[in-house]
Amino acid sequence: MESNGKKQIVMSGIRSTGFLHLGNYFGAIRNYVRMQDEYQCFFMVADLHALTTHPDTKDLKANVHRVLAENIASGLDPEKVALYCQSHVPETSELYLYLNMLAYKGELEKTSTFKDKARQHPQKVNAGLLTYPTLMTADIILHRAQFVPVGKDQEQHLEMARNFVNRFNHRYGEIFPEPYAFNFGEDLAKVPALDGSGKMSKSENQYSTLYLSDEDDLIRKKIKKAKTDQLPEQPGSPKSEAISNLFQLLELVSDASVVKKFDDQYNNLTIRYGDLKEQLAEDMVKFISPIRQKAKDIYNDEDYLKQVMARGAAKARDSAQSTMELVRRAMGLDYF
Ligand code: TYM
Repeated sequence: MESNGKKQIVMSGIRSTGFLHLGNYFGAIRNYVRMQDEYQCFFMVADLHALTTHPDTKDLKANVHRVLAENIASGLDPEKVALYCQSHVPETSELYLYLNMLAYKGELEKTSTFKDKARQHPQKVNAGLLTYPTLMTADIILHRAQFVPVGKDQEQHLEMARNFVNRFNHRYGEIFPEPYAFNFGEDLAKVPALDGSGKMSKSENQYSTLYLSDEDDLIRKKIKKAKTDQLPEQPGSPKSEAISNLFQLLELVSDASVVKKFDDQYNNLTIRYGDLKEQLAEDMVKFISPIRQKAKDIYNDEDYLKQVMARGAAKARDSAQSTMELVRRAMGLDYF
């Protein structure tokens, strides 16, 4: 998409905290791939954000490489986009510091993701966790991006980013556009877990999450174990959360005609959940296995991944440096 002859700017990121799953794919990566031709795109592996909850860096390199490999295996082209690692762009940390002066403790403490993590691990509440949204804002506005392809769980962070942007612009001058979560005009995606409630995530019950690295038999096993409910008793009765989740997953990977067939069976009370799961499992295997195999090859090619990161960092730093010059000038920090 162009405005005034220039491509509009897109930015997004994924934390390097473990294996990527179906939620990451349908909430984020699918849109990265769809946007790469039309927009100027910056996509990164958020290794600094990973440190807020995973301070042990032993697995960091492997995790960063895996996120890169899984993005590329899903169709992202490092020639078309800037695909980089957050810590390779030190301008991020400088902007993060300035934004922290504009962020209030009270609003940071009210962030849902912060409250959840603080509740789960009260002894691990570090300042980085509290200021997670300012670091994420720095990632985005460092490239003066307007569109941020993310899943539903990131919506509040984007709202906070707009607040920080408006505060900065108001105090120092109009430097940044407001960034918005993006999903081609549709509601932001929320891919459900297999255990009947909540969303798929990296840290929840491993059996309720489908990873892009899962082997075919494991995919089948997980789907077989997925939660179902009683059969509907009356034609047209509403679907329970567990059943509706299975249908949502079916919609992501199966043909529309297949979804319609099971939907009709549900409505006329002839559905057998075992058949639904078997179909879902086979379509899921068809979807995941080519990505898994490509990702393995890319992951094993360390030289290639290093090249990708170096090229990505160069593109990202180019953009970051021109923004930071504007920022320092606007803030009056350009006295030498
Ligand atoms: P992270 O690493 O938790 O997730 C990466 C992306 O996957 C999406 N996602 C989902 N979408 C739909 N359904 C799900 N079940 C699901 N689970 C995860 C997330 O919405 C996200 O788009 N804070 C970010 C990382 C980040 C970032 C940024 C994002 C750092 N800086 C700048 C955008 C812009 C995060 O933790 O994502």
